Amino acid sequence: MNISTVIGARPQFVKAAVVSQALKNAGIIELIIHTGQHYDEKMSQIFWEELSIPEPHKNLEIGSYSHSLQTAKIMMALENEFAHTKPSAVMVYGDTNSTLAAALVASKMNIPLIHIEAGLRSFNREMPEEINRIVTDTLSSLLFCSSDEGVKQLRKEGITVNVFEVGDVMYDAFERFKGPAISSAELYKYGIAGNEKFALATIHRPSNTDNLNNLTQILGAFSELDYMVYWPVHPRNKINLERVVLPKNIRTLPPLSYIEMQSFLHKSAIVFTDSGGLQKEAYWARKPCVTLRNETEWSETTKNNWNILAGPVKENILKAVKKEIDMNSWKRLYGDGNSAERIAKKVKEFLVNG
Ligand code: UD1
Repeated sequence: MNISTVIGARPQFVKAAVVSQALKNAGIIELIIHTGQHYDEKMSQIFWEELSIPEPHKNLEIGSYSHSLQTAKIMMALENEFAHTKPSAVMVYGDTNSTLAAALVASKMNIPLIHIEAGLRSFNREMPEEINRIVTDTLSSLLFCSSDEGVKQLRKEGITVNVFEVGDVMYDAFERFKGPAISSAELYKYGIAGNEKFALATIHRPSNTDNLNNLTQILGAFSELDYMVYWPVHPRNKINLERVVLPKNIRTLPPLSYIEMQSFLHKSAIVFTDSGGLQKEAYWARKPCVTLRNETEWSETTKNNWNILAGPVKENILKAVKKEIDMNSWKRLYGDGNSAERIAKKVKEFLVNG
């Protein structure tokens, strides 16, 4: 019972941290392959160390290219890898180019594919991730959804066999590291006082960062807030930052580790983001979230104003900031923190029974 897990980007390291442990506990041998899609120390290595992810069996060290070339290079390396290790199944997470590459190679080699975070849709096919999700789900033999919405979506697309709602493995990680994140002194390291009111922002989607008008709208909204906005910047955006003048109340930070990020989250007053994962994490931490996109895959979080879709529009962002939230409307979403165990159990059954 050996499986190959293919991961390559930051959020996948967090997810794999909890699932790998559960697979090991279930007696499943897992060979982790790091594609090298993310390679900077602060985008990769720091996560492996901090979250004690088992050493990768192999790092393909692919790096950055255009989407097609990156996917193709990962595919070529994976085909070779699977030919040698002959995994009983291949496991992938989410919707990155690493996910797509592994899905295509596994299916070409007739190796069953297991998809964690299946059934998610933004219904925006201009997002490369949306294409990656649709293809990966179509090719998967075992599909794990974070909520009932995913199961329903797959049903609409005719995918009904071996589909399981198991909750979200990011919630497992959120719960597991909540204690260390809250007690962490990381903020002081950045000169931020414990009682300071601040916002946490992440902006990395090309539609926001490469489009100067959208980026200017977002920064314009931030400039009108009477508190600081801390923005850990993805390396791809350094170049975009050179094209704008940052308002005085915005401070950029280097990419943060998982615990650092969670620490900022727990101590923030509000979150602005165009990332998928941070929308959920803000909800779990009971923080208001303003999403800088026009659609979300995590529609459940938008109930009762917890997460407001403002798009990259200054006026909408400022309106969203003013919305009240009834704290009593919070209810648990995306599982109970034991998703990884459920996944490991089902994977084992699948490997034994097919
Ligand atoms: C990728 C995923 C996105 C996910 C995100 C998580 C795809 C299509 N997108 O986006 O879904 O939300 O990861 O963070 O797979 N770069 C570095 N150092 C690195 C990695 C990247 O400088 O370690 C720079 C390079 O200029 C590169 C650019 O960032 O070209 C984009 O990296 P890439 O991995 O292609 O996409 P992300 O934007 O990180």
